[in-house]
Amino acid sequence: MITIKTPVTRDDFKAYYALRYKVLREPWGHPKGTEKDDYEPISEHFMAVNEKGEVVGVVKLYEKSEGVGHVSHLAVSPDHQHKGIGKLLVQTVEARAREHGFHSVGTMARVTATAFFEKHGYRVTGMPSVHLGTTHLVWMEKELS
Ligand SMILES: CC(C)(COP(=O)(O)OP(=O)(O)OC[C@H]1O[C@@H](n2cnc3c(N)ncnc32)[C@H](O)[C@@H]1OP(=O)(O)O)[C@@H](O)C(=O)NCCC(=O)NCCS
Repeated sequence: MITIKTPVTRDDFKAYYALRYKVLREPWGHPKGTEKDDYEPISEHFMAVNEKGEVVGVVKLYEKSEGVGHVSHLAVSPDHQHKGIGKLLVQTVEARAREHGFHSVGTMARVTATAFFEKHGYRVTGMPSVHLGTTHLVWMEKELS
């Protein structure tokens, strides 16, 4: 069973950032540290934890501009993908965004993940751009009802 938690302890954050690095940075040879951005301190962090206590998915949310939530660094461990964990994390941040009263959420999605976000009601509203010299990202947005 998967539980959604917010990291609290030092060990929680260590496991949280380790998964982010493993899924989003290590495969492209990016150095440690690149898995973090300038918005960590103002972000709310969520992690999916399995019955063994392992962190198998992560995502964060912060207010990008008034009423617009920025969903970022969504990552699910390769061994646990396609089991609904990504969906659960997206639903979690959207619920949080609604609690804040945000009117919309958006994300810089990898072009390989746009189909995933489209399934969840996001639409591409920008032009793809290169990120860290390897992956292409594109801004996608969803109105929250
Ligand atoms: C994209 C990602 C977060 C999806 O997480 P997941 O746990 O595998 O997704 P889910 O199991 O919740 O999938 C839900 C649905 O989306 C589909 N899906 C999952 N990944 C997809 C992808 N990359 N492209 C298209 N559809 C995808 C699933 O088949 C499933 O469809 P269904 O509901 O019709 O069966 C995960 O594959 C991942 O971490 N990828 C690498 C990093 C990445 O691209 N992150 C995205 C942010 S930039």
